[in-house]
Amino acid sequence: MFITFEGIDGSGKTTQSELLANHFKQIRGENNMILTREPGGTDFAEKARGILLKDDVDPVSELLLLVSMRYEHVKKLILPALKEGKTVICDRFIDSTIAYQGYGLEVDLELIRDLHKLVKIIRPDTTFILDIDVKVGLSRAKDKNKYEEMNINFYNKVRKGFQEIAIKEPDRCNVITEVEAKDNNQVYSEVINKITSAGI
Ligand code: TYD
Repeated sequence: MFITFEGIDGSGKTTQSELLANHFKQIRGENNMILTREPGGTDFAEKARGILLKDDVDPVSELLLLVSMRYEHVKKLILPALKEGKTVICDRFIDSTIAYQGYGLEVDLELIRDLHKLVKIIRPDTTFILDIDVKVGLSRAKDKNKYEEMNINFYNKVRKGFQEIAIKEPDRCNVITEVEAKDNNQVYSEVINKITSAGI
């Protein structure tokens, strides 16, 4: 089972990924569960993350780097774990590229989809999209990376991107709405309810 968490910066997806990972560790055992993240997840991709989050490059170059990092992550960590029957939780994945590079930086969405298809990047089984007011999200985000220096308009486009992904793929995506009005426990109880009602 491959589960991802998505949302704009400051939406609390890292906390929710950790809470859900602890839940699976308790019920399935420490060795049957992997918590990972993007950009990153392998030695190569964690090194490249440093460059990606700092350097100002063309958005298409950024996309190509992200796909290369994701390919490495899927091939070396995610697929082998899934083949062993493990549950994999990933903090950000393909939807972040569609939302940030596609909707936010206006890279052609077809190009993003085609590149992922060409190298056979798998889709998550279930995705949680944490939808939060942009101003609240940004005020919560801590270590500022280059995206967090972007303006509200950019983040509104990114947020809209996540919302549209959820509309297009309702079977995969679960949107947690109005996260700005909820604490971590409230958000987590919505997550766990969806997980249990889906029989995961
Ligand atoms: P994240 O690890 O969530 O940030 P933080 O260190 O604040 O928890 O993600 C880092 C940034 O990378 C985030 O601003 C979004 C961006 N990003 C993209 O633009 N495209 C992508 O495909 C991914 C995975 C992340």
